[in-house]
Amino acid sequence: MNTHNPIERLSTGIPEVDHMIAGGIPRGFLVACTGEPGTGKTIFSIHFIGQGIREKDVCIFVTTEESRESIITQASQFGFDFKRTIEEGRLIIIDALMGLEDKWSLRSLDIEELVDKVIEAKKSLGYGRARLVIDSLSAFWLDKPAMARKYSYFIKKVLSKWDFTIIVTSQYAITTSDAFGFGVEHIADGILRFRRFVRNGVLRRYLLVEKMRQTPHSVVMHEITIVDGRGLVVLGPTRERKEDLTLPRQVTERIIKAHEEKESELQDN
Ligand SMILES: Nc1ncnc2c1ncn2[C@@H]1O[C@H](COP(=O)(O)OP(=O)(O)O)[C@@H](O)[C@H]1O
Ligand SMILES: [Mg+2]
Repeated sequence: MNTHNPIERLSTGIPEVDHMIAGGIPRGFLVACTGEPGTGKTIFSIHFIGQGIREKDVCIFVTTEESRESIITQASQFGFDFKRTIEEGRLIIIDALMGLEDKWSLRSLDIEELVDKVIEAKKSLGYGRARLVIDSLSAFWLDKPAMARKYSYFIKKVLSKWDFTIIVTSQYAITTSDAFGFGVEHIADGILRFRRFVRNGVLRRYLLVEKMRQTPHSVVMHEITIVDGRGLVVLGPTRERKEDLTLPRQVTERIIKAHEEKESELQDN
């Protein structure tokens, strides 16, 4: 029998994703969203903050990939009024390197400046359970991928004292060899892996929970999609969608036929 204290979990804002991780992300966790561009990491992060707004959490969104305006516009396409929430003093969007000189802009991609700014934002928003998104954290070690682990550890250690549950996004370090990977895997309490494939000429996106400490999570890759007006939607487990994992019959037949033609050409000559 399960007699331990139930863990407090924060809803991601997407019921099917919550279901994949036994109800939500444990409070205080740092979860990494890893994946190629266009797989849905930023949109997932927007849902996480949108849910925080609903639950009256203190919310901070750090954007290094796109402007503050772009995040606000994208959020509005999925029904979240980030602009009003900012005006109400319940959300702060910190941006980096966007050429702005205001209070909530970072002048450089410096990890200590980031942490200081996040703490300043938390103090200004007030006490209570807090949600933080850093999109992307990997931007902070773009030109020094060997620092990924150290920086991730620093973030986790300092910010864990401030009652944050944290989502960080991470892209593969393409500047150097494979050795660096996404960089945050080793210190993350959870890893949500976003992927994309082209099937029959159509872009398909997938989500796999690769790690979630203290959680009996799903190990099945789920197909996801992004719908205007709604945002990230889970279509279902790939296990029940065999066509996603195998080549369509016509393609297989064409490959076999091409092989046979090549063979006979070789024999003819
Ligand atoms: N309003 C929308 N309606 C439908 N799809 C959208 C909408 N906005 C963005 N998308 C899709 O989401 C993609 C961007 O997802 P995003 O979360 O920004 O990716 P990542 O952060 O992983 O690079 C776009 O390329 C587009 O395919
Ligand atoms: Mg993004």
